[in-house]
This record gives sequence, C-alpha cells and structure tokens, in this order.
Amino acid sequence: MKQIKKITCIGAGYVGGPTMSVIAQKNPDIQITVVDVNKARIAAWNDDDLSQLPIYEKGLDAVVAETRGRNLFFDTDVDKAIDEADMIFISVNTPTKTYGKGKGQAADLKFIELCARQIAAVAKDDKIVVEKSTLPVRTADALKSILDNTSNGINFHILSNPEFLAEGTAIEDLYNPDRVLIGGENIEAIEALVQLYAQWVPRERIITTNLWSSELSKLVANAFLAQRVSSINAVSELCEVTGANVEEVAKAVGMDSRIGSKFLKASVGFGGSCFQKDILNLVYIARSYKLDAVADYWEQVIIMNDHQKTRFAEKIVQTMYNTVNGKHIAFLGWAFKKDTNDTRESAAIYVADHLLDEEAQIVVYDPKVSPEQVYRDLDFLGTRTPEANRRLVKVVDDPYTALDGAHAAAVLTEWDVFKTYDWKQIKAGMKKPAFVFDGRKLLDRSQLETLGFKYYAIGE
Ligand code: UDX
Ligand code: ADP
Repeated sequence: MKQIKKITCIGAGYVGGPTMSVIAQKNPDIQITVVDVNKARIAAWNDDDLSQLPIYEKGLDAVVAETRGRNLFFDTDVDKAIDEADMIFISVNTPTKTYGKGKGQAADLKFIELCARQIAAVAKDDKIVVEKSTLPVRTADALKSILDNTSNGINFHILSNPEFLAEGTAIEDLYNPDRVLIGGENIEAIEALVQLYAQWVPRERIITTNLWSSELSKLVANAFLAQRVSSINAVSELCEVTGANVEEVAKAVGMDSRIGSKFLKASVGFGGSCFQKDILNLVYIARSYKLDAVADYWEQVIIMNDHQKTRFAEKIVQTMYNTVNGKHIAFLGWAFKKDTNDTRESAAIYVADHLLDEEAQIVVYDPKVSPEQVYRDLDFLGTRTPEANRRLVKVVDDPYTALDGAHAAAVLTEWDVFKTYDWKQIKAGMKKPAFVFDGRKLLDRSQLETLGFKYYAIGE
C-alpha cells in the first residue's frame, strides 16, 4: 500500500470538522481537505474570524488556527478533492428516514450513496474509503457494492472507523480517546489508518475488528449509554412519588464499580444526533431479522425518553394550576446539552411543542443557539404554522430579558452560567408565585426556596 499523503473528508459537520482538524494537527505531513456541498458552511470554516466557525466546540478554534492553510483546507470542490486523495473519509449526515419503508426508524442512506457514486465516478486510482458517519450494520457492504460495480476496475478498500466523540468535549475526546475502533478486511488499509491515529493514541487503545463488529459496536455503545439515561430517568419518576432522591440513589448505585457513576444523571430526556437515531437503527435491524423481543427491548429506551419529556411538560402545566394558556414561560437553554450549539433532538424542542399546544408564551434564551435555529426546530415538527411559532415564541439574547415578567423559568440545558445568575433580582421581576422547573437538577434548591421560588426538580 502506498503511503498516505493526501486525505479528503466529505462532510464538514460536527464529526468531520473537529476530527479532521485534530488528525491534521497530529499529522503535519499529510494534507487534508474537508469538502462540503454546503457553500455557506465551507465559507464559515474559512472565516478569518475564528468565532464564526460553523460549530462551537471548546478548543476547536485553536486547532483550526494552527492547521488551516498549513495542511488543513476547507473547500467546495468535491470532485477535485476525491481525485487527489489516497484516503477518503465519509462523514455526511445520516438522518432517520422521513419517508417510505423504515420511515421514522431506518437511517436515510441517500447522502452516503451519493458520496459512493461520486467517488466511483471520479476516482482514477486505488482508494481507501473510511466510513465515519454512524451507519446501520452492513452499510459497508452497500458501499463496496456501489464502488465495485460503478467504477472502472479500481480497488477500493472499505474501513469502518466509528466516531465516539461527544459534543462539547469533542477535542478532548479526540486527544484522549478511550479507544479508536477500526473495522476492515484489508490488513494494509487497516494499518494505514492505524498509523494516522498512532501519531498520538497509544497502540493498545487502537483496536481492529471485522467490519460488522465495528459498525455494530458503534450502535451498541450509544444504545448502552442511552439506556443508562433512560434507566435513571425511569427511577426519577419513582423517586418523585416515594420521597427518594434520584441523585442520592444514582450516587449509591454508581459507586458499585461494576456499574460505574457516569451517565446516571437524571434529566428532562436525552437528545443529540446519535442516541435516538442509533437505537432506532438497532430496532429496525432487529425487526428486519424478525428479532421482535430484541427490538422491543431497545425500543423501550426511546419510549421512556419520550415519556420523560412529556412528563416534564405536563408537570409544568399541572403545577401552574392546570393551565399555561397565555402564561410567559422562560426557557433557559435550547441546545441538547451544555457547551454546544447543536439542537438536534433536543428535549427543549419537544417540551416547548407540548407547552405551545397549551397556548403558553415561551421566551427562549440559550448562550449559543441562534433565533433562526429555534424557529427551524419548531417549524420542522410541523405541529403549527411558522407564523404561530413566531407569535408564541420569542428568542432573546439576554437571560434577564427572557425572565422579566415570566410566570415560570424552565431549565432545559445544563449551561453552568445559569447557576451564576442573580436569582434574587430575577425573582423580583417575575410574576408571583415564581416557579422554577429544573429539568437538569442544575440550580440550588435551598437557595431558590429561601428566595421564595416554588422549585421543582426532576427526581426529587
Ligand atoms: C453521544 C456519545 O456519548 C458519543 O460517544 C457518540 O459519538 C455520539 O453520541 P453526544 O450526543 O454528543 O454523544 O452527547 P452525550 O454526552 O452522550 O449526551 C447525550 C444526551 O444525553 C444529552 O442530551 C445529555 O444531556 C443526556 N445525558 C447524558 C443525560 O441526560 N444524563 C446523563 O447522565 C448523560
Ligand atoms: P454530523 O453530526 O454527522 O457531522 P452534520 O449534519 O453536522 O452531521 O454534517 C454533515 C455534512 O455533510 C453537512 O454539512 C452536509 O452538507 C454534508 N454533506 C451531505 N452530503 C454530502 C455530499 N454528497 N457531498 C458533500 N457534503 C455532503
């Protein structure tokens, strides 16, 4: 196998952008080009002002500052980048299908297939193709079939290299991964990819498997993580009626070294682009093999998560004397977790939708999410007209403005900065009784109760 000199990554999103930035930083002799069909996105990656990068990730700006123009390039010319590359990463989006067979469950592979066809049409020499997007098991097979059948006698080696980074800590996770997983059949191709990571990741943390194990491991890892969140969320409801405190239960349970303490934080529900999509994928695959017990088992993780979001919204309505009609509810946070501007599948969207059905007036403040994104998320649900969403929802760029005159505050994202606010001043400006619904167990109950708030937190 010839030495890798040029790499192309198709897809300049949350996965492709940070991953390629770090690979470029650690492999200064390799030229990396990240391409995307979205011109505005590429322009933002090339912006001189690093605060304008299309995604917000702690530490990403410094890595881009070091590598961009040196051995990292962002471009819209996909064909040229494919032609020049020895290795091609595919990190395009694979949303859940919104139409046809598998609607609402299976992954939509149209973007992947388009990439494969484009690679096959353009490539003039052998390439290693690395799947980086989250994909249903056996996608590599489909990729291989398209590449082998539509190109002219060129050799393609397909590798699966699933991404385990979490948003908000992506750069840290890339620098110090628990493991790097590489699945494939061709030893030399695998070794070429191992070499890239071995520049900074200890060899024993780089594991190689067959293609299918690698693809399935990604889905299963996310399913296990999501299952822990749904498990503790199920317990949170039990705590509320029995007088137990979910934080105390999680601590006592998590100290068992066989269980471990991570991913046991009860919340308003998990979000993000991966958990729900990957579990739905797993469920779809299981059903397609007629493994109904397996499918039902994993589906319950999603059902529990939906229940948690609905339950939180209903708790708000019920506590506020069974009506929120015309009431001003301030949303603190819209992102699916702190330290990211990503809102995909954020619990906030679904809680808002429920409250809007009850004719609440919502004012949103999130430190990193734009008003356009909030409206896009609500419009995408299609529950009401875009005009109605704009009439009922306001998005402001200051938390005190959001809370001024509010009947209630609802914490939807665990941004640390929310803890530092002057809650005494906030209370003074709110309608009485002033309610706080804490979907993240973020704020200090005793402080808020001393100030006279009616405070509700998940699982207490
Ligand atoms: C996840 C996986 O962690 C990562 O390995 C994979 O590559 C992509 O999917 P991400 O979606 O970025 O990463 O965020 P993660 O930190 O896993 O959180 C997912 C959701 O679960 C968030 O909404 C978070 O708030 C919620 N969560 C997480 C909880 O409610 N409680 C917890 O204890 C942990
Ligand atoms: P992820 O979280 O998986 O990185 P994103 O949606 O943030 O997902 O990023 C995926 C990117 O892939 C988008 O910017 C999209 O424009 C890009 N993309 C999708 N299909 C293609 C394609 N055929 N060629 C180039 N870019 C593509």
